[in-house]
Amino acid sequence: MEKLYKLLSDAQASLFVLFHKTWVYHWNVVGKDFQQLHTLFGEQYNTMFEEIDRLSEHMRYLNVKPLSSLKRVLEVSYIEEASSSANDQSMIADLLKSNQDLCEKLGDISEEAEEQKSYATANLVQDLMESHGKFIWMLRSFSSTPGIKVNESIQEQEEVIEEVEETIEELEAE
Ligand SMILES: [Fe+2]
Repeated sequence: MEKLYKLLSDAQASLFVLFHKTWVYHWNVVGKDFQQLHTLFGEQYNTMFEEIDRLSEHMRYLNVKPLSSLKRVLEVSYIEEASSSANDQSMIADLLKSNQDLCEKLGDISEEAEEQKSYATANLVQDLMESHGKFIWMLRSFSSTPGIKVNESIQEQEEVIEEVEETIEELEAE
């Protein structure tokens, strides 16, 4: 069961970081789709608020303590914090990737839980997978590059940032 508890704890921390990130983007989004994205992110963080509570209470039933330190939450989360310089499209790409990563990990938990015959746990994480699958669909509908895999578009953005940083370094060295 130890493995299952660790997977649950990491997922709880990651869900907490995704909740916070979505909330931050709900405040900070700007652009022509402001109203729709503000509302979409609002619905998603509100859903996650309920999910975190449900998951944490189920962990207490399993005699696992959810992490209480925010520092520790950030350390174990496989989802990164909100970017302070994101525009509307990079917010969407970032949230898409985070939700996809979360769904993948939830799938691992579901498998492990079924193997351990912890069916209530499997059922709970499968519910989360369904709701985050819906998030993915909605976010994808707002993406300006829906045909491109999110990981690719983030990689492209990272490459551009790297190039800019190199240019700055070169200029500074002159
Ligand atoms: Fe709000």
